[in-house]
Amino acid sequence: MTQNFKGRDIISIRDLSKQDILTILDVAKKLEDKPMPNLMKEKIMATLFFEPSTRTRLSFVSAMERLGGKVLGFENTEVTSVKKGETTWDTIKMIEQYADIIVQRHPIEGAARLAAEASSIPVINGGDGANQHPTQTLLDLYTIKKEKGKLDNLNIGFVGDLKYGRTVHSLCIAMSHFRTKLYFIAPDALQMPKSYLEDLDKKGIPYVIEKDLLKAAKDLDVIYMTRIQKERFPDPVEYNKLKGVYQIDKSLLNHTKKDVKILHPLPRVDEIKKELDDTENAAYFRQAGNGIPVRQAIIALVTGMI
Ligand code: CP
Repeated sequence: MTQNFKGRDIISIRDLSKQDILTILDVAKKLEDKPMPNLMKEKIMATLFFEPSTRTRLSFVSAMERLGGKVLGFENTEVTSVKKGETTWDTIKMIEQYADIIVQRHPIEGAARLAAEASSIPVINGGDGANQHPTQTLLDLYTIKKEKGKLDNLNIGFVGDLKYGRTVHSLCIAMSHFRTKLYFIAPDALQMPKSYLEDLDKKGIPYVIEKDLLKAAKDLDVIYMTRIQKERFPDPVEYNKLKGVYQIDKSLLNHTKKDVKILHPLPRVDEIKKELDDTENAAYFRQAGNGIPVRQAIIALVTGMI
């Protein structure tokens, strides 16, 4: 069943069928339940991070090392020949000879697809600009399934920066494989791009556009908070107008279902108060931990080792 993954790139969540997604989640569960510390022995993963990251890079490194593999790469282009003008294309043409799999993060939308075209080894998109972050989506789905026991018949509320939030874009597409209702909670200037709403219309997925989180809160099974992303705003004046627009604390729980789960791809700035961290509802640190089995599954599947 896992044969069709060998050699594949994971660039956009759109490239994965519902069955592909369920297979990855299933392999992740198996690897979480029964670790395979020698599976990737002799294999090397390259991590090419043209943009800052904590979770994505380190959880990929941890995932690979816990499978017995080795890692090389960079987390800062200042120390690479990119500074001398080397292109992403040429960088990939070198790295494909040094490793068995590439994980790349890049600030430019489409850079992951370009890397995949250049590469003869599998390329995993660790985030490309405001576009896509498919491995985050897979760990988000894994978390929702673990926390709620299912992926169908859930009301999911996306809150914050839905315009530039690549994690929201990827998760919205993925959730459309399941029976779900989506709530997009954002100021007008940060609402979901029209193209994603048109996709949902075509698939007949119900959704609600809302500005007021408290109004929608009582209906939600999952609240997916996001950071207002300063680095994506072309105009700092616009950022200053919108920063801090949603800030949740324990009082939110007076307006929600008792078993609502709060997710966040992290990093957070001020949108979730620390006092929520020790509630059962706060799932965001467990979510970050789920990056390990999910990324292990992706590494093992696309290299054909499982
Ligand atoms: N969630 C996420 O992508 O975090 P990092 O930017 O730290 O990798």
